[in-house]
Order: sequence, then structure tokens, then C-alpha cells
Amino acid sequence: MPDLSIDGYVIVSADGMLANAARVMPDELKFEGDKQFFTAALDRADLIVHGRNSYEDQPNSPRRKRIIVTRSIAAIAPDPSNSKATLWNPAGASFEAACDFAGVPSGTVAIIGGPEIFAMFLDRYDTFWLSQAPRVRLPGGEPCFPGVPAQSPQQILEAHGLKAGDGQILDSGEDVSVTPWRREV
Ligand SMILES: NC(=O)c1ccc[n+]([C@@H]2O[C@H](COP(=O)([O-])OP(=O)(O)OC[C@H]3O[C@@H](n4cnc5c(N)ncnc54)[C@H](OP(=O)(O)O)[C@@H]3O)[C@@H](O)[C@H]2O)c1
Repeated sequence: MPDLSIDGYVIVSADGMLANAARVMPDELKFEGDKQFFTAALDRADLIVHGRNSYEDQPNSPRRKRIIVTRSIAAIAPDPSNSKATLWNPAGASFEAACDFAGVPSGTVAIIGGPEIFAMFLDRYDTFWLSQAPRVRLPGGEPCFPGVPAQSPQQILEAHGLKAGDGQILDSGEDVSVTPWRREV
């Protein structure tokens, strides 16, 4: 069994949304402190995983190995537009096989969305880093996980065996914080 450590990262509004009703992450959900936290985490990761519409858009992005989840291929294929990217369809191949193909059979993996991709790993996260912007509301927006807002993101993480650790403030003016949700062993 490959030795993969799997972490998730998201910033959500008070109502648990990661994007607005137009499925776009609005500027009001972007904070310098969170950006720095996220950038540092991705710089430490060996592999980034995201759906076809999510992308971290940072100066170091071109240097990072990544898996892009898509139904446009049957199983696993190189991304013709990015030599560091692997296309993966979970219906056709295991995550481990995709990591092997990407050249990262072991190491630290950062899952960065969107909602379906976060949900795929809910039983596998070692730590899910939940950033929250309690002053921002995005009614009718895109929930961070399927099942939100009927359940809160925290309730969903807890239901999957994760437990909140000590949070840290990322933007004191806007009360933005990040909380690590770690798997109980
Ligand atoms: N606030 C945050 O921290 C945060 C985090 C992540 C994303 N976002 C925002 O959320 C929005 C993206 O939302 P999105 O819902 O479009 O998410 P997405 O997960 O990035 O992209 C969806 C695409 O991923 C592929 N996909 C999803 N589930 C799949 C599955 N089970 N099997 C195979 N492929 C699958 C499909 O690609 P194909 O169509 O190619 O088959 C699907 O169209 C963006 O605005 C982004 O900026 C915000």
C-alpha cells in the first residue's frame, strides 16, 4: 500500500459555500492571510489534486505536479496541455494508480476541490484544513461538500471521523481562521 498522506484545503463562507451562485469564487472570499497559508501548504505538497474547473492560480503553479479529475478520458492519461499534469477518471482507475502515473507513489497530497472531489476523499483525509470567513455569505452559492447547507461542513467532517484541532487566525480584521480537522486514530 503506498504511503500517501492526504490533506484537504478549502475556504468557505458562513453558509458553507466555496463559490457564488455563478460557480465562481468571488473576491470577497479571498484574503491575503488565507492565500499565504494555502500557498505555503501547496509548496510543501508533492502532488495537487483538483477537478477540471478548480485551479490554485499561484506563481508556483506551473512547477507543481497535479492530478486533474475529469470524465473526459476513460481512466488515466497525460494532460496534453501540461507535462506536469495527469488526467484521472475515478470510474476507470484507482487513486493509487493515478498517483503512480504522476510519479508520486508516496508523499503528501493536497486536495483542493471542488465539492465532488472533496467528497471523494472524505474517508481518507489525514487532515482537512477548513478555512472560514464568517462575515461572508453566499446565498444560493456552491456548497463546499454535497449535503451542505442541510448539514454544516463541520458536521460532515465529524461524520467522517475527523475531529477539530486548534484553529489559527488568518485575518483578524475579518475574523478569518483555519481549523485542522484530523482523523482520530
Ligand atoms: N473556496 C475554495 O476554497 C474553493 C476550492 C475549490 C474550488 N473553488 C471554486 O469552485 C468552483 C469550481 O467548481 P466545480 O463544481 O466546477 O468543481 P471542480 O471539481 O473543479 O470541477 C468539476 C469538474 O471536475 C470533474 N469531476 C468532478 N467530479 C468528478 C467525478 N466524480 N469523476 C470524474 N470527473 C469529475 C468534471 O470534469 P469534466 O467536465 O472534464 O468531466 C467536472 O466537470 C470554482 O469557481 C473554484 O474557484 C473554491
